[in-house]
Amino acid sequence: MDNFSFGLWTVGWQGRDPFGDATRPVLDAPLAVRKLSELGAWGITFHDDDLFPFGADAAEVGKRVAAFRSALDETGMVVPMVTTNLFTHPVFKDGGFTSNDRSIRRFALRKVLRNLELAAELGAQTIVMWGGREGSEVDAGKPVSAALDRYREAVDTVAQYSVDQGYGFRFALEPKPNEPRGDILLPTIGHALAFISTLEHHELVGVNPEVGHEQMAGLNFVHGIGQALWQGKLFHIDLNGQKGPRYDQDFVFGQGDLLSAFFLVDLLENGGYDGPRHFDYKPLRTEDLDGVWESAAANMRTYKLLRERSAAFRADPEVQEALKYSGVYELAEPTLNEGESIADFLKGEDFDPETAAERGFGFVRLAQLATEHLLGAR
Ligand code: GCO
Ligand code: MN
Ligand code: MN
Ligand code: MN
Repeated sequence: MDNFSFGLWTVGWQGRDPFGDATRPVLDAPLAVRKLSELGAWGITFHDDDLFPFGADAAEVGKRVAAFRSALDETGMVVPMVTTNLFTHPVFKDGGFTSNDRSIRRFALRKVLRNLELAAELGAQTIVMWGGREGSEVDAGKPVSAALDRYREAVDTVAQYSVDQGYGFRFALEPKPNEPRGDILLPTIGHALAFISTLEHHELVGVNPEVGHEQMAGLNFVHGIGQALWQGKLFHIDLNGQKGPRYDQDFVFGQGDLLSAFFLVDLLENGGYDGPRHFDYKPLRTEDLDGVWESAAANMRTYKLLRERSAAFRADPEVQEALKYSGVYELAEPTLNEGESIADFLKGEDFDPETAAERGFGFVRLAQLATEHLLGAR
């Protein structure tokens, strides 16, 4: 079975935006579980506050979790990932882990630690941390080095607690350049990877990149994922669509840079990623509930179609020949010979840069072959 998962907050999004009120009613969590399962999904993820209201008492939490759990049991849906909301309540307006107010930082850290028990009970393996409010609008108001010290302290504490409790979680930091803050800390995959290398439990922490977030920063998502995989840090992924650098659109997967989505699926399917194919999108505000389910199905359908197209691309002998012509296989060969000493290497060899410079790499042909496969023309 395909490991497609959805955030409860995606199909549950009521369409409230900075300019307008909700266009859809509250969606019951057990209904979301049943409906997504019917559509072919495998898993569902949530923030604590998606499942029960902020500040709910133990009885209320127990009731909501029980109803959710019985829908899971009934459908066989799993909860591969859980995350903590440190952004909606006004208390988090200057951040959670990195709020300038120490008492708020302590509250935020406790909220995350307490959510781990529920995540463990529901069988989650991954904890996502999206620090949407961890940032600033005024550079003088939040020295980055102090904020990163606090960020690191928080992630180290959460990871340590998971180790102490024997939960066995892995943690995935989700980069985003801006929105809701003017500038968010750990804005890109690269920033997050560099930050992770400074952590005490760096081996337990990876990234949860979202398509649109890198594209908001004008970056190539496929390259970002390529590096995260290369570093063994792609712990989770948020698939969606985005049309270039503008507000966070959270469109259905593929409803944006489709060619990039094609190469992304090709990379995920062949590059050693076996984690959930998690959709983090927002059904358009214009849609009624039928449109919501239509959009959920569209994410999975597009992923499967792209996977088919990628397999056809790779199986095409002309593509294989074009890859060879372009030197793609040659790039996999080490530059030095096996056992070659640097001294030997420095002796040099017959090489004429003028002749070598005449080579064409044939990338245009490769691009066209990919486009034609994507269009179903081959
Ligand atoms: C966004 C973010 C969020 C997070 C989610 C997990 O679109 O800005 O993706 O949706 O992924 O809140 O914490
Ligand atoms: Mn987003
Ligand atoms: Mn996301
Ligand atoms: Mn999102």
